[in-house]
Amino acid sequence: MRPVIIAANWKMNTTPADAGDLARTIASRTREPGVVRVICPPFVCLAAVRDALDDPGLAAPDGGRAAVGAQDVHHEAAGAYTGWTSAAMLAGLATWTIVGHSERRRDAGETDGVINGKVRRAQEARLHVILCVGERLAEREAGQAERVVRDQVRGCLDRVGAPAPADQDVDWGAVPWLTIAYEPVWAIGTGRNARGADAAAMAGVIRETLGELGFADRGEAIPVLYGGSVTSANIGEFLAEPSIDGALVGGASLKPDEMAGIVARAGVTAAARLEAGSRPGEGTRRDAAPTS
Ligand code: PGA
Repeated sequence: MRPVIIAANWKMNTTPADAGDLARTIASRTREPGVVRVICPPFVCLAAVRDALDDPGLAAPDGGRAAVGAQDVHHEAAGAYTGWTSAAMLAGLATWTIVGHSERRRDAGETDGVINGKVRRAQEARLHVILCVGERLAEREAGQAERVVRDQVRGCLDRVGAPAPADQDVDWGAVPWLTIAYEPVWAIGTGRNARGADAAAMAGVIRETLGELGFADRGEAIPVLYGGSVTSANIGEFLAEPSIDGALVGGASLKPDEMAGIVARAGVTAAARLEAGSRPGEGTRRDAAPTS
């Protein structure tokens, strides 16, 4: 049974002075059992958000705490890289990181090869990774969307499928170390979301590619999120697709009302999966699956 994940990407918004309050407000209004909540503020707000979320009163009734994620890590472990942040530097600040966001591909020139390094460094630092992939509008219109996403998954995950021997003892908890967010570039920040069926089709392509890369069980254990203009009004369309396991939310993640609505809908899916998984013969097979 794959977890249901709602990740908030605050992008370049909030300051250390106000991020803690926003995180606390969102966490207190999203206490849905079974939903994995991740808040990804800017680097300089990580400590404020970590401190704000370190409050048992913000846990869901099942004990689930909102986790803290970074928005990026560098592809090298350390060195002469002015202004950048390594995965190891996040120890004690974050347990998740986004990598390969299309805004970084666009603005920082990140290639699949560079992102592959980021995935490795994050995995070595024991961070849960949300790897973003997605085609541009011209690529979709040219009928190239599936090929583009397939190439991105291959390039970003080439030779990182199986955990290194030293990693095999790591307890990643109930959530695999890797999550993939399908974010069509034309849907990000535009108010123009994809259709649920398009996202589901791409989740199929992503898992097929994971299988080719040697991921266990043809990638069935790896959560796939949709991202791109997700709101409380359209989240249901994505979560109605069994192959979609949640959302990476940008603009709406800064609005507590929106997050409350999105996570409430995610809670419905989480409860349904739990219920299906508790029936004999269903859903138990992958519960403790290795997360390669
Ligand atoms: P958006 O951003 O929800 O504002 O479209 C999503 C993302 O970039 O992750």
